[in-house]
Amino acid sequence: MDKLKNAIREKGRVLSTEVLKVDSFLNHQIDVDLMMSVGEELARRFQTDSITKVLTIESSGIAPSMTAARDLGASLVFARKKKSLTMNNDVFVSQVYSFTKQETNDITVSKDFLNKNDRVLIIDDFLANGQAAFGLIDIVQQAGATVVGLGIVIEKSFQDGRQRLEDQGYRVESLARVHSLENGQVTFVDELQL
Ligand code: G4P
Ligand code: NA
Ligand code: NA
Repeated sequence: MDKLKNAIREKGRVLSTEVLKVDSFLNHQIDVDLMMSVGEELARRFQTDSITKVLTIESSGIAPSMTAARDLGASLVFARKKKSLTMNNDVFVSQVYSFTKQETNDITVSKDFLNKNDRVLIIDDFLANGQAAFGLIDIVQQAGATVVGLGIVIEKSFQDGRQRLEDQGYRVESLARVHSLENGQVTFVDELQL
């Protein structure tokens, strides 16, 4: 998606060979117009898949999920990282290990908002090693629902998340695939052949 790749090129900052900072349009300040377009494009790719629910994780997955859910005519549910005070105990829980923070955290979704008839599109802002994605998949499976695929805003293709997901048969659609962050430069997968 060119609009997204341009924003990454112009506003992204390469913090290391592993980490891309995009807090001016995705992770802190939000470019609403861009995130609406991102959601629309994710919806377009799953338009014929009878999605009933978009599942994401707070906080940065929510913005791009909004127009995706709207355009698919689906409900939007986000997994919580902290259990809410008003949440009853009827929740699906999964453990997610964060490489960046080197800690394991529970993510939870109320049983009220996922059921076995749901056809679920999982959306997230970044795909690195896929820890968050597998936690969300685990929750969908606990509900007996179907994971139709994953929609990712920025995939770091030099990490193994996509490979691990595809190895298990999951469809992954990423709108920007970063091949490398070497030498302070962002190189996209589809620029390699040029
Ligand atoms: P993983 O789930 O894909 O395996 O990744 P990891 O544990 O490393 O990610 C921890 C957090 O960092 C996640 O956000 C993830 O989206 C984000 N992240 C991973 N790689 C990058 C990167 O290169 N740049 C940026 N900006 N973020 C990255 P989170 O902690 O859940 O935060 P948020 O959703 O509240 O923003
Ligand atoms: Na994030
Ligand atoms: Na995230």
